[in-house]
Amino acid sequence: MRKETSIHGQWSSKLAFVLAATGSAVGLGNIWRFPYITGENGGGAFVLVYLMCILLIGLPVMIGEILLGRRGRQSPINTMTSLSHEEGLSRAWSLIGWLGVAAAFMILSFYSVIAGWSLSYVFRTAGGAFTGLDVDGVRGVFEGLVSDPERLLAWHTVFMVMNVLVVARGVRSGLEQAVKFLMPALLGLLLVLVIYAVSIGHFAEGMRFLFAPDFSKINGEVVLMAMGQAFFTLSLGMGAIMIYGSYLSSRASIMRTSATVVSADTLVAVLAGVAIFPIVFASGLQPDEGPGLIFVTLPMAFSGMPGGVIFGTLFFILLVMAAWTSSISLMEPAVAWLVENRDMERVKASVLVGLVAWVLGIGTVLSFNLWSSPIGFHLDLGGEEPVFIGGTIFSMMDYLTSNVLLPLGGLFIALFVGWRMTRRSVQDELGVGTGLLFRGWYAVLRFVAPVGILLVFLNAVNLI
Ligand code: PFF
Ligand code: NA
Repeated sequence: MRKETSIHGQWSSKLAFVLAATGSAVGLGNIWRFPYITGENGGGAFVLVYLMCILLIGLPVMIGEILLGRRGRQSPINTMTSLSHEEGLSRAWSLIGWLGVAAAFMILSFYSVIAGWSLSYVFRTAGGAFTGLDVDGVRGVFEGLVSDPERLLAWHTVFMVMNVLVVARGVRSGLEQAVKFLMPALLGLLLVLVIYAVSIGHFAEGMRFLFAPDFSKINGEVVLMAMGQAFFTLSLGMGAIMIYGSYLSSRASIMRTSATVVSADTLVAVLAGVAIFPIVFASGLQPDEGPGLIFVTLPMAFSGMPGGVIFGTLFFILLVMAAWTSSISLMEPAVAWLVENRDMERVKASVLVGLVAWVLGIGTVLSFNLWSSPIGFHLDLGGEEPVFIGGTIFSMMDYLTSNVLLPLGGLFIALFVGWRMTRRSVQDELGVGTGLLFRGWYAVLRFVAPVGILLVFLNAVNLI
């Protein structure tokens, strides 16, 4: 008999799931990572490829990943084991779950450090630390923060404790209310920033950078970065959305909810870009400023607008909350697995997962100061120049997760749902009949998504 609910519980309603999944998706990936990665990869053409990846790979894989979670009703590892068993397939598919947990620890470790920067900015902005500063002053404040490992460690610790507190009680309590307030508030403040960006005179330049594609800026690496950003921003390919799907009622429509989550996430990312690039040009900054991009541009904007201290403080509070609702979804798969397989109390499992990620996070803390020189080696892949493989601990974990592990997880999910599960089980779980909607999605999941992911991988390493 198929399980109707997970032992970890169930969302109170369909809306609760949409809100939780949106909470997982919308986070630092939209407001911190999207602008800086776009800036480093040349703008418009990157954005175009990113949007194509969202639509042709992200959306279909998200539907597949939620479907798996709801059918398995357990942690991603056990869901994959039991679904493989049920379909008469190899247990090796549980690798999807294991890869996901490995990726989750790495993402959580650096995510918490960056969320810590945001926390520190709440207090700085509220205290007026940016008032009256020019761009060099603002950058000085940012550099002062990241060059201080003890301060970074302290904020990283605070954020990780916040996560453990929520996950220990079960991710459902309070999440619905929090996200209900968070999304409109975040959109409202992004609109304030967009209005400010329109008012400062470099709006057209910003829009050109963000939306006018310059295809000479495209290469295999840029396309890989765009696909990686699509996976990261949608929380896809590592089991986070799968486990949220496992708490979803059997009656809710997976297709509709996925479309909602993807739209909300894309809207927030694009608005963040629209707000930030005009400020970049108006402040005389370069788009490829790196991970500090929003921590320099946003204080510039808030120090230049009326009511900036209030708007700025509120904005960084919302950013922390958005990061919080994302990072709890990073912890949940491993915590659920420990509860299922190690018979651990949820509280203990949460503390353990938080502790491991916290220790790993020290690598990211040091990546911006004591260990900021890149480590690695050169590899000749037959391109014009040998490529450098390596970087700081932060940049390696970020690259490995977004550009390799998440797309690999997505590839396996697409193959499992599209080629290994019987079409009957897939149809049965989706419950949208066999009409055009089903057939369209099924074809994209079977052909476009896996072939797309493979081509992007092969192209990035110069094999095609
Ligand atoms: N999607 C989140 C963001 O955009 O900030 C980050 C994230 C959360 C990635 C959960 C992966 C994940 F499983
Ligand atoms: Na996101």
